[in-house]
Amino acid sequence: MYTQAMDTMAREGGAKLEKVLSADEQQLQQRFDARIDAGDFIEAKDWMPDNYRKTLLRQISQHAHSEIVGMLPEGNWIGRAPTLKRKAILLAKVQDEGGHGLYLYAAAETLGTSRDQMIDALHSGKAKYSSIFNYPTLNWADIGTIGWLVDGAAIMNQVPICRCSYAPYARAMIRICREESFHQRQGFDSLLVMMRDGTDAQRAMVQDAVNRWWWPCLMMFGPPDDQSPNSAQGMRWGIKRVSNDTLRQKFVDATVEQAKVLGVTLPDPDLKWNEERGQHDFGVIDWSEFWRVVAGDGPNNRERLGMRVKAWDDGEWVREAALAHARKQQTKLEAA
Ligand SMILES: [Fe+2]
Ligand SMILES: [Fe+2]
Repeated sequence: MYTQAMDTMAREGGAKLEKVLSADEQQLQQRFDARIDAGDFIEAKDWMPDNYRKTLLRQISQHAHSEIVGMLPEGNWIGRAPTLKRKAILLAKVQDEGGHGLYLYAAAETLGTSRDQMIDALHSGKAKYSSIFNYPTLNWADIGTIGWLVDGAAIMNQVPICRCSYAPYARAMIRICREESFHQRQGFDSLLVMMRDGTDAQRAMVQDAVNRWWWPCLMMFGPPDDQSPNSAQGMRWGIKRVSNDTLRQKFVDATVEQAKVLGVTLPDPDLKWNEERGQHDFGVIDWSEFWRVVAGDGPNNRERLGMRVKAWDDGEWVREAALAHARKQQTKLEAA
């Protein structure tokens, strides 16, 4: 995940004025604030402010879309996996991502938007998904690198959401995080095999993949804190628990050590340990690239969305058949 979604709101002109509350609503609002302050979880049927609902809907649906679109760059490689073992692992991982999308669509539906509406928003280009999935997977090492770095960054982002104040989202995230850690490990393991037992050409493929994925992965945490105007509200509501820059720093610190074990170089000449801070310093991120990809002009934006729409259209007969079967079962039940 994919918290960058929340942070792009104001940039897209999405910030709205607060509506004036009635006396009853003010009381409900106070009770809601007190529950948030006490660390209570909010359930679907509980009263919640409109903007809390809208913010969550935007974040959860964009998270769901990211899981579903995220299946595409890896799905490309299922038929080309080098061994039966790697093929079985990749199939399981891509299937997991589909499952994550479904849990998350279900969580978002509890806030009052139907799955059809969310899918429409994705297919018409209105809804965003994580910009990382608009980059191409050029060789087999990209698949290991996605597991290691993209799923690694996703875990860093997602673990704090297991404590999100909205209970249906938090519950979905607990299960998702368990599966994400398998995704990260299988990626690291796949790269380790190539680095330790592979040929020079295979080692060069891993380094090339890491060079291409490193910076986009740092962008997955969203814009810097001083350019994330909605983060403070997300924190106040207990939707966001840890800031973008803090998560990004944690990811860099953890990944540097893993890169040493793999024997790959992270493509940043400014990356070095800062004794005073007890953390790594790293180079400046090219945010113009991030905003370009978010706006739809990344290397694969059109291809990804085109594939999604095609998969949806091709699956229409399956949805029709499932609905016809359900209607038939219902008629039988009623007749019995
Ligand atoms: Fe996932
Ligand atoms: Fe994953």
